[in-house]
Amino acid sequence: MTEPKFTAIVLAAGQGQRMKSPLPKVLHPVAGEPMVARTVRALREAGAHEVRVVLGHGAKMVRQVVEPLGGVCFLQREQRGTADAVKSAQIENIEGLVLILNGDHPLITAGHIRDILKEFSEQKSALAVVTSVLKKPGSLGRVVRHHGAVRAIVEVADASQDTLKINEVNTGVYVTTAEFLSEYLPRIQSQNAQGEFYLTELVSLAIEEGEKVHAIRAAREVGFGVNSQEELARATRFVFRKKCQELLAQGVMVMDPKSTYVEESVQVGAGTVLYPNVFLKGETVIGSFCVLEPQSFVSNSEIEDGVYVKAGTYIEESRVSQNCTLGPYARLRPKTTLDQEVQIGNFVELKNTKMGARSKAGHLSYLGDAEVGQGTNIGCGTITCNYAVDRKKYRTLIGDEVFVGSDTQFIAPVAIGRQAVIGSGSTITKDVPAGALAVARGRQIIKENYVSQKIETTPPDPVEVSGGDEE
Ligand code: UD1
Ligand code: CA
Repeated sequence: MTEPKFTAIVLAAGQGQRMKSPLPKVLHPVAGEPMVARTVRALREAGAHEVRVVLGHGAKMVRQVVEPLGGVCFLQREQRGTADAVKSAQIENIEGLVLILNGDHPLITAGHIRDILKEFSEQKSALAVVTSVLKKPGSLGRVVRHHGAVRAIVEVADASQDTLKINEVNTGVYVTTAEFLSEYLPRIQSQNAQGEFYLTELVSLAIEEGEKVHAIRAAREVGFGVNSQEELARATRFVFRKKCQELLAQGVMVMDPKSTYVEESVQVGAGTVLYPNVFLKGETVIGSFCVLEPQSFVSNSEIEDGVYVKAGTYIEESRVSQNCTLGPYARLRPKTTLDQEVQIGNFVELKNTKMGARSKAGHLSYLGDAEVGQGTNIGCGTITCNYAVDRKKYRTLIGDEVFVGSDTQFIAPVAIGRQAVIGSGSTITKDVPAGALAVARGRQIIKENYVSQKIETTPPDPVEVSGGDEE
């Protein structure tokens, strides 16, 4: 299918006072992605030739989000209404089809946009306004029809009681041509309750001039605009629920879709089980036949097939190979790589660390800037002391099949040869050759009869010693 070439104009200059937040409205995230970023992404996906974004409030911040996505920014110095915003996008140097939309309708997708453009090209009208029927039309502009045909869009501030009862609303999406805009935009005036230049005026102006205006009915999501934190939360809930439905359809076992949070960018393999309160973020890929227990959090990580993530495990920017077991309560910080069948147990933290196949760190350890070979056992309470007084990080290298006794500290930089054995409680400051035993701890001292001798020389306070009821 060849898609029609079109230019998009995204209106994103408003402050969004009803959000009660210092963040510009369009930067509020829905399921991890700023609203305006979603809009720009959907437009690009739908094949927009150019995406022009009109900025005003928080322009500097919004620009930082929009430009990397390929949006071209225009400044509306003063927010004088939606018609004025469109003018700010320099329509004089646009040709052909133009799609206008608001930056605060985060549920609109590339699919919706394609459908709208298709219907517009079939209808051959001069202007199409996209509408939705909502149970609670709220503050959105009402679509007034006469004998079924659209006559006008009336803003709530200007509406009569009867008009307010209409539940077909203006989604703020319009399709027209650059030529139409340059003819009709200059004619819009600001004689209304808010004293603003309303883009919605295009509808009645065009009809007065005998132009063909058409309403395109779109799904409720298209009409869902965010004006408050409550609506933002609803949009987020909608996106998470939709993603869970997709996962279910793909054969993922989502135990409780209502309490499972998977961002749209995440992939999960069939046959994987997601317990309630799992949160998966960013560019995360989870394989098949994995189990993620409650409170597992995974962000920008790759987890291969058959990995068992036990409750409360936190994983960021890491790679986990097949059949590893993590947690409960393990933490994988950025740049951690685990080869197959590695076992990481409770309260173990890894950072910038690679562990070879079948190695284990079962309990209460910190491995930072370390490289561990295959089949190595890291005893309970092991710590790599990677950060030195010179404020630099140093590496610990541990070979294959090494046995590290519990409560060992490695003072990096240090290297341990393969099959070496480290005695429990050692503070290792020097390299250990392959196959060697290293013990670095205070020797045990025994003083025979120490307690009885001590009692003979200094008699204890009878009150302190007496414990029970005996006399
Ligand atoms: C507008 C429509 C209304 C529609 C609703 C859909 C008008 C007059 N009304 O109402 O019919 O139902 O959108 O959400 O168009 N903006 C600018 N510059 C401005 C004013 C607004 O860029 O000077 C941007 C805002 O950032 C926002 C969008 O335009 O993204 C809509 O503005 P907003 O004030 O939210 O419009 P509504 O009053 O909701
Ligand atoms: Ca307004």
